[in-house]
Amino acid sequence: MDIQKLIDTAKALVADNKGLLAMDESYPTCNKRFAKLGIPETAELRRDYREMIVTTAGLNESISGAILFDETVHQQLKDGSSFVNVLTDNGIIPGIKVDGGKVAMAGHPGEKITEGLDNLRDRLTEYAKMGLRFAKWRAVITIGKGIPTQACIEANAHALARYAVLCQEVGIVPIVEPEVLMDGDHTMERCFEVTEQVLHTVFNQLYTQGVVLEGMILKPNMIVPGLACSKQESVAEVADATIKCLLRTVPAAVPGIAFLSGGQSSQLASARLNAMNVRFKSELPWELSFSFGRAIQQPALDIWLGKEKNVPEAQKALYQQAVFNLAARQGEYMEKTDK
Ligand code: 13P
Repeated sequence: MDIQKLIDTAKALVADNKGLLAMDESYPTCNKRFAKLGIPETAELRRDYREMIVTTAGLNESISGAILFDETVHQQLKDGSSFVNVLTDNGIIPGIKVDGGKVAMAGHPGEKITEGLDNLRDRLTEYAKMGLRFAKWRAVITIGKGIPTQACIEANAHALARYAVLCQEVGIVPIVEPEVLMDGDHTMERCFEVTEQVLHTVFNQLYTQGVVLEGMILKPNMIVPGLACSKQESVAEVADATIKCLLRTVPAAVPGIAFLSGGQSSQLASARLNAMNVRFKSELPWELSFSFGRAIQQPALDIWLGKEKNVPEAQKALYQQAVFNLAARQGEYMEKTDK
């Protein structure tokens, strides 16, 4: 294992106030987002969409790395070049989602476990040869009546740690993503309590499996109330709670924390990240960054609608969202929000 290479890549992913662009939606997720807008759910349109993203001029000013889906790395741009090469040539580090998605967890109604460890070593070796330098595995934790259970948290944390150590073996930086979902009417306090428990369990497992903390990135949820909760805290309250929870649970050796957006609006996700950096940036042991999917892509997808003629406007929107988050990392994001 080349530890220095892992450390260098992990640091590069969170350097210069840039962040990650998650464009690794699986077939069902990407199709669901297309269907909502009446875009045909075809492999060709998924390719077109992703070509629109990676050919956006200036994206590398605010994006350090892009997370791809397996389908995309086997497709080409219209001019025949590969997605991996186009990103690399533009100074954006290419990464890959390697989990196999979530399935119902046996014996635990309402809970999910992420699959994909079978053959993972072989797949990672192949991806490393293709030039992919980091990977992502997402575990989801649902808050509800009587859940999450310790069994679900431990099983997911164990899988995350086994994935992470396999990545590091072949020189790929693991993005470790335990996502506590926003769905439901739970309070922000409940999200705090569950996230704290999840992160303690994840870092315990990462330690047990021998993961090099300096060579990984954590991708957590922010501490937010459930989407259906009647009390929605202010941006500042979310920022304070999130930092408090992360300071309790994430070792200082981890170079960076890159949040998922998890269904927050683009504005709220940026405003909350901004508030955390305004209030705490100088005191934190890790870089506080973003690895947004929807919060960067959604405005562009709404404009693109599967039509070639909309590409320039969609690219402008994508570029703008990425720049907003570059600003949020510096505590300089100005766009107005409802809260
Ligand atoms: P969102 O920012 O849309 O939650 O996507 C991030 C991601 O990669 C989810 O796994």
